[in-house]
Amino acid sequence: MAYLVTRTSLPFVRKYAEKARESWNDIFVHLENLVVGIKELSMNKDFRTTYMDDLLIPKSKIQNEYKIRENLVSSLASKTTDMILLLGIAILIIVIGRTQFVEISFFGEYLTLVLFTVAPLSSAAGFLGSIKKIEVALEQVERAGMSLNDLPGHEMLEPGTNKWTPDRPILELRSVEHEYYHVDEEENFNLGPIDLAIRGGEILFLIGGNGSGKTTLAKLISGLYTPKSGEVYYKNQKVKPDLVEDFRDRFSAIFTDSLVFEELLHLKKGRLEKEGKELIEAFGLKKKVRIENGRFTTTKLSEGQRKRLGLIKSFLEDKEIYLFDEWAANQDPSFKEIFYTSILAKLKDKGKAVIVITHDDQYFDLADKTVKLMNGKLSDLVPAN
Ligand SMILES: Nc1ncnc2c1ncn2[C@@H]1O[C@H](COP(=O)(O)OP(=O)(O)OP(=O)(O)O)[C@@H](O)[C@H]1O
Ligand SMILES: [Mg+2]
Repeated sequence: MAYLVTRTSLPFVRKYAEKARESWNDIFVHLENLVVGIKELSMNKDFRTTYMDDLLIPKSKIQNEYKIRENLVSSLASKTTDMILLLGIAILIIVIGRTQFVEISFFGEYLTLVLFTVAPLSSAAGFLGSIKKIEVALEQVERAGMSLNDLPGHEMLEPGTNKWTPDRPILELRSVEHEYYHVDEEENFNLGPIDLAIRGGEILFLIGGNGSGKTTLAKLISGLYTPKSGEVYYKNQKVKPDLVEDFRDRFSAIFTDSLVFEELLHLKKGRLEKEGKELIEAFGLKKKVRIENGRFTTTKLSEGQRKRLGLIKSFLEDKEIYLFDEWAANQDPSFKEIFYTSILAKLKDKGKAVIVITHDDQYFDLADKTVKLMNGKLSDLVPAN
């Protein structure tokens, strides 16, 4: 009977274990994206919210459910088996008590002691242990969800109250400084003090040699780094720590190590279908990827192709400030041309502030202004040709 109970439960345990494992594999990809794509997630509130609320949390709940079912069925089966065995022993005791065909004290000393106490107790302890493990796993999933949704600094910027007009800069850096401490080197890297301003509809080129501090400045500009000293202003309003999250949300930024997520759920459906399709075609990705059900069908592409996909997503995000850190570096000339002449022009027409970190001097005349970094110091503005 005990064997039958175990046997019957096995297909169910197997089914739920398989489903739990399948959904865990899916969640694992999303968890990996959380780590690798933390910059993109922390810079985009709508995307972060849909990623957490519509994808990761529901999928975690489904996974939990399967895992709990798997544990429940296997525990029920093993407890029922124990019960049947104990019942058998109880019946045996009654029968021996009535018929006396074995000395009851002899039987009691050995069999009861072994079967009644050791085996059930150890399996009961094991059962409690697995309940604890489930509780801990659940708490950890909860915490992962909470910590990203609950980033510090969730006050909203209020530009209207600061007498801002569109002829004034959207973004200003005033005496901003940053420092990297290098343990194994004698000198630290010091950036700044930097003064910089950019208006809507303006294209700013940021140039400079390797290691001059361009990416570091880009991270300060976009609120990913907090300046050691100095201030950042958004539409006349000082970006204090509790405004940083909202400030970052005004940006669409592509860094050299940015992750391209398949999910596009936070973007407007109409734009995705029309403009998304056109851009995929223009950037030579038509045979590789489509937009279906609010997501790219794949991001398993070459590095250059993936960066083009990232640019398409960034363009469709429709933010106020765009920042591209050497986006064009490894692109074919024809795609560089589309980026510099078409994409940047469209962003400018839409009144976006666009910051482009670049080494492509053949396009320098497209900038409204160009600034150069050398050893962490910003040189005088180089006027556009
Ligand atoms: N995370 C970091 N920790 C410590 N030092 C850093 C870090 N990132 C960059 N640096 C240092 O800061 C300096 C500026 O780096 P940054 O990446 O801003 O330069 P860059 O102008 O973007 O260079 P590239 O053209 O190669 O991209 C370099 O000397 C670098 O070694
Ligand atoms: Mg760089």
